[in-house]
Amino acid sequence: MRRKIVAGNWKMNKTYSEAISLADDFFQLAAKDPSDSVLTIIAPPFPFLREISKCLEGQPGIFVAAQNCHHENSGAFTGEVSASMIRSADASHVIIGHSERRQYFAETGEQLLKKVNRALENELTVIFCIGETSEQRNSDIHFSVIRQQLEEVVFHLGEEILSAGKIILAYEPVWAIGTGVNASAAQAQEMHAFIREQLRGKFSAATVNEKVSILYGGSCNTGNAAELFAQPDVDGGLIGGASLKAADFAAIRRIMIGQAGL
Ligand code: 13P
Repeated sequence: MRRKIVAGNWKMNKTYSEAISLADDFFQLAAKDPSDSVLTIIAPPFPFLREISKCLEGQPGIFVAAQNCHHENSGAFTGEVSASMIRSADASHVIIGHSERRQYFAETGEQLLKKVNRALENELTVIFCIGETSEQRNSDIHFSVIRQQLEEVVFHLGEEILSAGKIILAYEPVWAIGTGVNASAAQAQEMHAFIREQLRGKFSAATVNEKVSILYGGSCNTGNAAELFAQPDVDGGLIGGASLKAADFAAIRRIMIGQAGL
C-alpha cells in the first residue's frame, strides 16, 4: 500500500511567534485524530525548523520538512542552507524543485538532481515537485514537460531509493498554485496516472505501485480535497495557502484519514 500523505508548505510566511502558534494549534487539533495510516508533514521556513521539530516529540506520524536546500554540505555560499544543516535541526524531509524555486530562482534540472542527491545522502526524504505552466498546457505539451522533469532528476535515481520510499512526488500545475483554480479531479488523476506510467518504464512495477506516493498540489482546500484525494493515483496533497490555517489543514488531514480508512 502506498503511503497517504498530507503536507503543508508554509512558503515565506509567518514570524517566529506566529509560526510557533500555528504549529501548536495544528498539533492540538491533529492530536484529536491520531492516525497510523496518514503521514503528516509541515514545511515551515528554515529559522523555525528546529523549534517546531522539538514540539513534535509525542506527535507520532507528523514530520518536519525544509522547503529547499543547497547542493553542497558546507562552504562559501552566503545565505544558503545545506541538507546536513537541515538534518541536524531534526527535520526529516525537504521539498525540492518547487515551481517557485524553478521560476524565481532559475533552478535547473541539473541543479535539482544535485540537491536531491545531497538531501538523500543526508538521510532526508525528498518531496520532489513537478508541474507545467498554463502556456505549456494550452500548447498541449504538458505531458512531455512532466516527462522531461522526471527524466532530469527522478530517472537518475536508483531503484533502491524509490523502493525505500525516499522520494515522494508532488504534481503541482503552476497554473493552479495560489490561484484558487485547482486542477479538476479528472485532470489530476490523468496526470498522476501518466506519471506512474512513466515511472514504470524505468523502475519495477512493485516499487512504483507500492512505494511512490504522488501528491497533488495547487489550490487544494477543505472544499475540494475529498474529491481530489479520492482519485486512485492521488495519494494526498501538498497544501500551500490552506496549510497556514490550523483548522483548515487539520480538516484536510481529517479528510485524508477518512479516506485512508483509519
Ligand atoms: P496553494 O495551495 O496555495 O495553491 O499552493 C500550493 C503549493 O505550491 C504547495 O507547495
